[in-house]
Amino acid sequence: MTQDELKALVGQAALPYVVPGELVGVGTGSTVNHFIDALAAIKTTIRGAVSSSVKSTERLLAHGIPVFDAADVTRLAVYVDGADEIDHHGFMIKGGGAALTREKIVADLAERFVCIADESKRVAVLGAFPLPVEVIAMAASQISRHFEKLGGTATLRPGVITDNGHPILDVRGLQITDPLAMEAEINQWPGVVSVGLFARHRASLCLLGTAQGVQTLVF
Ligand code: 5RP
Repeated sequence: MTQDELKALVGQAALPYVVPGELVGVGTGSTVNHFIDALAAIKTTIRGAVSSSVKSTERLLAHGIPVFDAADVTRLAVYVDGADEIDHHGFMIKGGGAALTREKIVADLAERFVCIADESKRVAVLGAFPLPVEVIAMAASQISRHFEKLGGTATLRPGVITDNGHPILDVRGLQITDPLAMEAEINQWPGVVSVGLFARHRASLCLLGTAQGVQTLVF
C-alpha cells in the first residue's frame, strides 16, 4: 500500500471513535483530509466539528459539515488528528502543516486524542522530524539562541505565516528523551506561541496504518 492509501485507511478507521450527536474535534493535514472525507458519510449523525485550521474548516464546509468556533465549546469527546512523529508513550511532534497552535487548543478541549498516522510516523525517540515552534516574530532570534543551548538549530520556515499571523521556527538536531520536560521548558521562553511537542496533550490512542492493516495502540 502507498503512504496515501495507509492515510486513507486510518482516516476511515477513526469513524467509530466519533460520538453520535456530538461535536468532533478535527485536526489538520493530509491524513486528516481523508478523515474529513470519511466523516462526510456520517455527517447527519453528528452535530458538527470544531476545526484546527482554515484549511480543515474549508474542507469540512465543502462537505456540508457545520463548523463551530472553539471559543463557544466547553468540551469535546474526541479530537482526531495526525502527527509528524509519535513515540511509544503517545508523545508526538506536530506542526508540519503549521497548525500546531490551534491543534493544541482544540486538543485541550477534548477528553480523548485519537491520533491517525501511517507507520512511517512511529519512532523510538522524537526529534528526527524538525520540531515546529510558532513564535512572535521579534522573539525568533532569541528563541533560536535558547535552542542552540539545547543542541538544536532553528531556522525560520520560508514563506510560512500561520493562521494566527506568526512565523514558524523548525528546530533540527534535538534528541527529545523527556518530552514533558522539554515542552514545559520551551513554553517558558518569551515569544513562544506554542511548541509542536504534544506531551501534555499526547495521544490517548493511535490508529497506525501498516501493510498488515490498522494497529490500535493504546497509551
Ligand atoms: C499539521 C500537523 C499534521 O498533523 C502533521 O503534520 C501530519 O500531517 P500529515 O497527515 O499530512 O502527514 O501537525 O500541523
